[in-house]
Amino acid sequence: MTDKILVTGGAGYIGSHIVIELSAAGYAPLIVDDFSNSSPSVVPRLSEITGHDVPCVTGDIRDRRLLAGTLSEHAVAAVVHCAGLKAVGESESRPLAYYDSNIGGTIALAEAMADAGVKTIVFSSSATVYGQAGSNPIAEDAPLMPESVYGRTKLMIEQLLRDLARSDPAWRVALLRYFNPAGAHASGRIGEAPSATPNNLMPILAQVGAGKLPEIAVFGSDWPTPDGTGVRDYIHVVDLAEAHVAALAHLQRAAGVTTLNLGTSRGYSVLEAIAAFERACSKPITRRMAPRRAGDVAICVADASAARVTLGWVARRGLDAMCADAWRWQLHRDA
Ligand code: NAD
Ligand code: WQD
Repeated sequence: MTDKILVTGGAGYIGSHIVIELSAAGYAPLIVDDFSNSSPSVVPRLSEITGHDVPCVTGDIRDRRLLAGTLSEHAVAAVVHCAGLKAVGESESRPLAYYDSNIGGTIALAEAMADAGVKTIVFSSSATVYGQAGSNPIAEDAPLMPESVYGRTKLMIEQLLRDLARSDPAWRVALLRYFNPAGAHASGRIGEAPSATPNNLMPILAQVGAGKLPEIAVFGSDWPTPDGTGVRDYIHVVDLAEAHVAALAHLQRAAGVTTLNLGTSRGYSVLEAIAAFERACSKPITRRMAPRRAGDVAICVADASAARVTLGWVARRGLDAMCADAWRWQLHRDA
């Protein structure tokens, strides 16, 4: 029988791409999402792309009754947990909202899963758990010192899931630390669609390219990097989604907790990313050098070798593909 996989936050940017790759791998994904940062219009697009009906339960993962009903009604085999709040700056001004949604949501989900006997979970963690890493590339055993409320919620959820797995060996947990997800599905039908003005580099570049924003402010040109601008490990969202399929397969073989970085092991500067976006959209991107942004680091690049060894997975798509796909999505997103 086809395994049913519940994707919390499956209408969001990363979750929607995971739904597509799960379906392509022969799983039957279903979604729980409250659409607080996504649109219901994503769901029919997912059915159209996958060629299968993608069931979607509208609601909040903190609603225990809703979760219990969903897990039993659909006989879910495992959960990919993407739902949560993710804006670093907002987490500082609304800490309780972040603790409530991210941690409260995960507790409600884990309780409902335990009650239903569903004990396999893949969690969307983040490289932000490393904070100001001492050296790059960053391996999974680097010190964990998140610098924001958002980052602390991610680390607390990792700890919560580790404690759960220690208490009951039936749990199988993958903690996947994403570096900088970028790009969109090649169809141009789904992509990143934040409700508010974007804070991240790639969606801002797309909006500057489209004339919706006048320019990109480059946050710092005096970092200790080759061109003075910040260096990040951008990873194509489809590569990221494929890693979740590999993680679920791994959890069928491995009990306990598996913690992995998901990145490319290759860094690009802000200026290199702007140049790549200019190639993708065939237009100049207006930029303005600006002071450093609070909380930023010079370089954040994954050591992704553990994911290669453990999952047999590597990111295959490069920065040009990320920009080309993000631009296609920007052009077609309202169609
Ligand atoms: P997103 O906001 O596009 O997706 C999150 C989805 O969860 C949205 O559809 C939203 O409506 C839903 N949601 C939020 N709170 C909910 C709740 N309480 N109940 C039900 N649904 C809820 O974000 P994304 O970029 O797709 O990120 C997915 C996950 O990956 C998040 O947990 C995020 O912290 C993590 N992550 C993202 C990045 C990134 O740069 N995008 C990097 C590292 C980790
Ligand atoms: C990338 C680079 C900026 C905007 C964030 C979160 C992290 C994770 C991924 C969730 C940096 C520069 C950006 C702009 C710029 N998310 N930049 N002008 O900060 O590496 O990571 O998203 O878990 O937790 O912190 O990503 O895209 O914001 O920035 O110069 O207008 O682009 O300084 O060097 P970041 P980003």
